[in-house]
Amino acid sequence: MDIKRIGNPGALKTSVYVPGKLKVEVEREFGLSNVIKMASNESADGASNLAKDAYLKIADQLHVYPDSISRELRQELARKLGCEIDQITISNGADGVIYNLGMAIVSEDDEAVIPEITFPLYETIVKVMRGRPVKTKMKGFRIDLQDILRSITPKTKAIFLCNPNNPTGDAQRKEELIAFLGQVSKDILVVIDEAYIDFAAPDADPQSIALFNGGMDNLFIIRSFSKIYGLAGVRVGYGIGHEDLISLIHRIKPPFNVSIVAESVALAVLENNNFVDKILEEIHQEKELYYKRLDELQLTYVKSHTNFILIDTGRDAAQISRQILKKGIIIRPCTGFGLPTCIRVTIGKHEDNLNFLDTFKELIS
Ligand SMILES: Cc1ncc(COP(=O)(O)O)c(C=O)c1O
Repeated sequence: MDIKRIGNPGALKTSVYVPGKLKVEVEREFGLSNVIKMASNESADGASNLAKDAYLKIADQLHVYPDSISRELRQELARKLGCEIDQITISNGADGVIYNLGMAIVSEDDEAVIPEITFPLYETIVKVMRGRPVKTKMKGFRIDLQDILRSITPKTKAIFLCNPNNPTGDAQRKEELIAFLGQVSKDILVVIDEAYIDFAAPDADPQSIALFNGGMDNLFIIRSFSKIYGLAGVRVGYGIGHEDLISLIHRIKPPFNVSIVAESVALAVLENNNFVDKILEEIHQEKELYYKRLDELQLTYVKSHTNFILIDTGRDAAQISRQILKKGIIIRPCTGFGLPTCIRVTIGKHEDNLNFLDTFKELIS
C-alpha cells in the first residue's frame, strides 16, 4: 500500500506515542517474575472497593449501549463542581477528551501553542487536524508562560497547558497562572490539562473551575479518573468548557465512546473522599522519601505536584532505564520527551520505592 497517498497528510506527520513497557513484556524478555511497573503514573493502591463493587454490579447490563452523552455522570460532576451539565463532556480517558476537543476546534493552518516539554498528545491531534503546533521554550524544567504569550499570533486558536506538567511534575504558581490567564485574549481557548491536579500543593492549584464558573469561559479544563481514583484501565475522563464548545464536541465525538462500565464506576467513586485523602497522604510521604534519598545522591530532581518524580540522572537516561529494567523495575526514560538525561518514576508502594531507590543508587554509584 502507498500509505503516503492513502494517509491523511496530518496523520503522516505524527510520531508514535510510546507508552510505558508492559509488565508481561518485560517478564518475558528478561525471564523475570514480579516485575514492578513505575512507568505510567498508575496508582500504586489500585482502585477502591466502591469502584470494584460498581464494576461487578454493572455486569448484568453489558449487552446494553451506554447513554451516548453520559448524562448521569455529567449531572453528578456538575453538582460537585458547581457548573452546568451542558458545560461538561465525558470521554474514554482524558486522552479521548483531548482528541474530541482537537477534532472540534483545530482546522488547517490553525496554530496551537504547546510547550516544548509536555504531554505529547496535544501535538499529535493538532497535526492530525493539519494545524500547526507552535512550540514554546522551557525555563529549566518549568513551562515559560511569558514565552507562551510571546508566541501568540492572529492564527492562534488554542494554548495547551499541562498543569501540573507531565513529564516534569512541576506546576505553575497559582498567582502567576491567574495573571497569565488574564493576559490571554478571550478569543483564544486556553486548555488546561489537570490530569494530576489532585496531587498539587494548594499554592499550585489555580482553582480553574472556580475561574471558569466566575466567567473565564475561554478555559477548557481536562480531568482524569485514571490517576487519583486508580481507574486507568477503565478509561474515563472529562472536560469542562463553554456550553457551545461542549455542544460542538458532542456533535463530532463517537456516539458511545464512554462505556457503561466506565460511567458506572466513575459515578461510584466521585464522592470517595476518604480514599482520595489516604492516597494523597501516602504519596506525600513517599515523595519525601525520594527527596531525601535523591538529596543524599546530590542529584537534580523536580519537586513534584503529581504522583511521579522527574530525576536528572546526568547520564544517558535510556541506558540507565534499561539497566533498571533488567533488575525488574520499569521506569520511563524521558528521551522521547526531549530530556535525554532524565527519568520519570511513578511513586509506587513503599517497598517498591525503596527497591527502586536502592537499585538506582547501586547503578549510578
Ligand atoms: C497530562 C496527561 N493528560 C492526559 C493523560 C491521559 O489520561 P487518561 O488516562 O485519562 O486518558 C495523561 C496520562 O498519563 C497525562 O499524563
